[in-house]
Amino acid sequence: MCGIIGYIGRQKAPQILIEGLKRLEYRGYDSAGLAVVDNNNRENKINCVKVVGKVKGLEPLVSEQVLNGSLGIAHTRWATHGAPTEINAHPHCDCKKRIYVAHNGIIENYAALKSKLEQEGHKFQSETDTEVLPHLIEKFFRDCSLEEAVARALTLVEGTYGIAVICEHEPRKLVAARCGSPLVLGLGNKEYIIASDVSAILRHTRQVIYLDDGEMAILTSDDFNVVDVESAMRGETTKQIYKQIQEIEWDIKQAQKEGYPHFMLKEINEQDEVVRNALRGRLLMEEGTAKLGGLENVEDKLRGIKRMVIAACGTAYYAGLIAEYMFSEFAGLLTKTEIASEFRYRHPILDEQTALLNISQSGETADTLAALREAKRKGILSLGIVNVVGSTIARETDAGVYNHAGPEIGVASTKAFISQLTVLSLLTLFLGRQRNMPATEGKNLAEELNLIPEKIAQILKQQKYIKKIAQQYAGYEHALYLGRKYNYPVALEGALKLKEISYIHAEGYAAGEMKHGPIALVDKNLFSVFIAPYDTVYEKIISNMQEIKARGGKIIAIATEGNKDIKKIADDVIYIPPAPEMLSPLLTTVPLQLFAYYAAAERGCPIDQPRNLAKSVTVE
Ligand code: F6R
Repeated sequence: MCGIIGYIGRQKAPQILIEGLKRLEYRGYDSAGLAVVDNNNRENKINCVKVVGKVKGLEPLVSEQVLNGSLGIAHTRWATHGAPTEINAHPHCDCKKRIYVAHNGIIENYAALKSKLEQEGHKFQSETDTEVLPHLIEKFFRDCSLEEAVARALTLVEGTYGIAVICEHEPRKLVAARCGSPLVLGLGNKEYIIASDVSAILRHTRQVIYLDDGEMAILTSDDFNVVDVESAMRGETTKQIYKQIQEIEWDIKQAQKEGYPHFMLKEINEQDEVVRNALRGRLLMEEGTAKLGGLENVEDKLRGIKRMVIAACGTAYYAGLIAEYMFSEFAGLLTKTEIASEFRYRHPILDEQTALLNISQSGETADTLAALREAKRKGILSLGIVNVVGSTIARETDAGVYNHAGPEIGVASTKAFISQLTVLSLLTLFLGRQRNMPATEGKNLAEELNLIPEKIAQILKQQKYIKKIAQQYAGYEHALYLGRKYNYPVALEGALKLKEISYIHAEGYAAGEMKHGPIALVDKNLFSVFIAPYDTVYEKIISNMQEIKARGGKIIAIATEGNKDIKKIADDVIYIPPAPEMLSPLLTTVPLQLFAYYAAAERGCPIDQPRNLAKSVTVE
């Protein structure tokens, strides 16, 4: 949550900062702000502008005030402490307005620090936790460098931060530091950009360095230096940490809408390709298994485990729930999927025969990361399925598999989910073949998996039809999504997609649970969505549909092509091509994403940036 960016170089900073902030806007969009050192002014005054709402609101302010320095920092906010007002927007400054800080994270002990600073005479403007940082830096900034003052301030802080700091006294320096909130340093030609993620950097360079917790970057337009905060505090800033420079594969086109009205629609439409990318080079058709390079080092350990615990949040958690069915049925591996934010607090039993699998698109979700660190403390094998290369979870797990889905920018996760399911299917093959899965079954599954991209492409061709259905239902205020077995988590995901972008209240349920409560909701204000492909529980779900129909409820069904009978029960039917039960979520999910998208569009909702949400949830 919250996106930060800082630029130092020879170009005009404001345009670069605003352009970068727009790429980070998915991290929060309550308010935004930017502070730039005016190098034309003898005192190197820092000018700061802020706005409530979206980043584009900054553009007129920047040109009105002719901000044009080549050093600056900026921020797009997802409010935690204090309402989304101009005063609470970042960057925040010290009493004399000479030190400016943009911050992502939470300073947990800010109340105690603030009260002490106030007693010492510091005057605060905002209600934010962040504002203690510029005041602390101000306090320590005597006879020392900016980085030393920043380091001293940071050693008093409890919580998480990714920060960027500038100051009038050192007008050719940008200091950034990280603890728990991501920061990437882009290395350009005589220019550097520090940002919360690579999408804000891609336009300028693909050479990056990922900062680790406890590290600080000191940037000038000619050079950069990474040190640890502890050494910086002692003034030992010449003791550089060697950092590997990495080359980013993503290109800027992938982070643009390319003619689609929303990123979400673009990302849904990429899903056939997303599956191809996740499968590329990983399916061994002849042997009926999967080759997962990222797991090679832990192959033997994996063979020995008796239990898999999956920890994830939101949509990624639902992918994990589907894996619970996959791993149990096809790999004979006892699997339990946990909501990451609950995992730590239930004293999980993790022995050496257990492995923890983290699923995360961003690789930065605070709760998922906390679950991973808990597992590491217990010394068990940790694995990751992550989309963002170089993210914290990707770097901290013992081994893992990348999604290769490209940047997902729409706040509602779509293509990441489909690629997570693809990787989980590959992992099922891999774990199954390590255990008791016969080669013929492995081959069959591999062949079926290979057919999935074409089947997704067929579903995508039905967009106009799905749009028409969605428009009919967009006026409802309640929806019930029902599925069984592999498609029970799909019901949860379908309901989540609808509620988060259209604000229609939607609940996902295991269809068998319907009679134990939710059926009481059926009335003219509610419609039901049944996920009912031909599978081993098909007859059961048809009975559940009849029960809703008997009570006058409106029904949409997702069904297998050729199923004419279902039209006698459901009011509207969306067909998907046939597939083995285990792989059916890869298909049944797609019409539900499109349905949610078009219902939200009909209701005029801000689809890529739904209210109150942020894509990367980096606070617990
Ligand atoms: C919903 C959605 C969220 C994320 C969740 C986990 O559409 O996007 O529920 O799935 O915040 O995020 P990652 O996968 O980045 O850990």
